[in-house]
Amino acid sequence: MTTKHRRIAINTGGGDAPGLNAVIRAATLAALRRGWDVIGIQRGYQGLLDDRYLMTLDRDAVRGIGHLGGTILGTVNRGHPFEYPTEAADGSITTVDRSDEVIESFRRLGLDALIAIGGDGSMRIAQRFFEKGLPIVGVPKTIDNDVCATDVTFGFDTAVSVATDAIDRLHSTAESHQRVFCVELMGRYVGWIALHAGIAGGADVILLPEIPFDIESVCRKVMEREAAGRHFSIVVVAEGATPAGGQLVTLGEKEVGREIRLGGIAEQVAEAIAARTGKETRSLVLGHLQRGGRPSPRDGLISARFGAAAVRAVEAGDFGSMVALDVPDVVTVPIADAISKMKSVPLDGDTLQTARDLGLCLGD
Ligand code: F6P
Repeated sequence: MTTKHRRIAINTGGGDAPGLNAVIRAATLAALRRGWDVIGIQRGYQGLLDDRYLMTLDRDAVRGIGHLGGTILGTVNRGHPFEYPTEAADGSITTVDRSDEVIESFRRLGLDALIAIGGDGSMRIAQRFFEKGLPIVGVPKTIDNDVCATDVTFGFDTAVSVATDAIDRLHSTAESHQRVFCVELMGRYVGWIALHAGIAGGADVILLPEIPFDIESVCRKVMEREAAGRHFSIVVVAEGATPAGGQLVTLGEKEVGREIRLGGIAEQVAEAIAARTGKETRSLVLGHLQRGGRPSPRDGLISARFGAAAVRAVEAGDFGSMVALDVPDVVTVPIADAISKMKSVPLDGDTLQTARDLGLCLGD
């Protein structure tokens, strides 16, 4: 299969997620089959600011990577080309706009298109480059599943599997020792991973950013179970969950050009439960285990479909678009729609209603 010769680039930005390599592989194979050249831009946009971070993506470069976690291109969640962190003369960190340098390199390298694989932050950058004239197609990645205009982002299914397995494993110790376990899951400002893994893993309480919680309601659930002879409970806490009227729990200071890190809410919830119920309560943070390892079969498949669809979008000249799942099809949508807002768990959705129907406590 050959079409008009093109030279395309691929980059990956933001936190890594299972399926990145599968997208790179699929897009590269689909492009090579068309007789195109493919360049990998390493470390987000770094390769367009420094030629040392460029690599040729040929058949050998992508051989056997589809099942590997991480990204062979490397990724960054700082180094935003429009707000690039730089040290000022006084040693403080400030930001400069390096987007014109990126565009200049793109043209100098004779590139016809960029496939930008990333989450909401990367799609925002992609949209800004598109508005400055770069021919870009986005691919939605993130374990958080918070990107709009697509039924799902790749990486989410694997994260849910890992989290579900962890909740499942906690049950034996919780039950044997008659303890309460509070497990903190990722997801940033949305509760998709917590809700899906919590239901699938058989949690008793799920606390989401979308529903500010009342600790009394959580403790009531624990004590109701106690009274019913169930002397243990599993409380799933999304890292972005907050008590009603309370604040996000964060780690460290916000760094320039980087999102604030979330973490620590499960420990606070565990302390509050222990103090109010007298039950031995432990907390754990599942953390980056949710982002590692091979993609689940569902993520492996959607990543391959997204990668190939991104190449078809380039071929069709469908720029400023993002590939998206609109079950059962992979389609393209304007990146502008994808970044118009954050995709939160809908409060009137059937998954949340399922949790309530199963008798789970959602903290309200
Ligand atoms: O966006 C993916 C994610 O894993 C979030 O769930 C989490 O809050 C964040 O990234 C952690 O980022 P980092 O690895 O930079 O600490």
